[in-house]
Amino acid sequence: MSLYQKHVFICENVRDDSDTRGSCSQKGSPDFRNKLKEEVDRLGLKSKIRINKAGCLGTCNQGISMVIYPEGIWYGKVTEADLPEIIEKSLLNNEKIDRLLMPFMRKKV
Ligand code: FES
Repeated sequence: MSLYQKHVFICENVRDDSDTRGSCSQKGSPDFRNKLKEEVDRLGLKSKIRINKAGCLGTCNQGISMVIYPEGIWYGKVTEADLPEIIEKSLLNNEKIDRLLMPFMRKKV
């Protein structure tokens, strides 16, 4: 049993500008996480959905990187424009958004 229905981790790792790997923070993950958190609060879901910052999730070239538990849905290259769909589909209705899935989560044809 979990304390929350959903637990979302968003990478906020910071790297020096000279580091060629880049980082999710440089791509705007703090603002992304704050907006998601604000929206979850506004919808009255704060006690059910926990939004946490994370260190590097190991998928830097796909940043902004995030993962949603308990399903273990990994999304990459997310932007603030994706937030309404992430909330509606993945946080409220347990659906995956195919175009945001990390490559390792996509179905092989
Ligand atoms: S810096 Fe975000 S996944 Fe590595």
